Amino acid sequence: MEELHSALVAPRGIWWKAAGRQERIWVTVSFVWCMILFAMMPLWHIKGGQNPSGIRARVEPEAFRRRVDQFIADYKIGSEAGVPLVAPPPGSDVYLLARMWQWYPALVLEEGKTYVLHLSSIDVNHGFNLQPFNVNFQVVPGYDYGLRITPNQAGDYRVICNEYCGIGHHLMTGKILVKPAGSAAVAPVAQGGTR
Ligand code: CUA
Repeated sequence: MEELHSALVAPRGIWWKAAGRQERIWVTVSFVWCMILFAMMPLWHIKGGQNPSGIRARVEPEAFRRRVDQFIADYKIGSEAGVPLVAPPPGSDVYLLARMWQWYPALVLEEGKTYVLHLSSIDVNHGFNLQPFNVNFQVVPGYDYGLRITPNQAGDYRVICNEYCGIGHHLMTGKILVKPAGSAAVAPVAQGGTR
């Protein structure tokens, strides 16, 4: 007679029988792959090169804003659409502040020179994204990230925000102008603004 099963009467198991060859292969492959992924977590952390290599420090949003204001006062060369245009000397500390919904100020850097770019937010999380390159960095309130950067290509670049930060997220743009190596200090560029 055919065996009937219900929730009350469990089907007869076969777990005590040896696993088939294909099942053993499958379990082996899965296990090895799990171990590889497990090992990659610490390895990638150490060898991956994706960790921020610069300065990491806590900073009060208000203190960071004051540093940015001082930076602007020191090196401002003009303004564009109401946003200060700031040309810091090579080797200096450069400040870029993220806030709803603006990157502030606009920067003028020189090709081939190294700077320390300090990024922080004074309100919520923002995402630094340099266009048209795939350069991304999380910008977090309360932390000052100092990234050592060397612009290697002159041009007029835009910074957009790639971390959703509210109703004006899509309007949050900024500007980094990289002038060719050895060129004289650029005059403020009369253009359609930073937006
Ligand atoms: Cu800032 Cu989205």
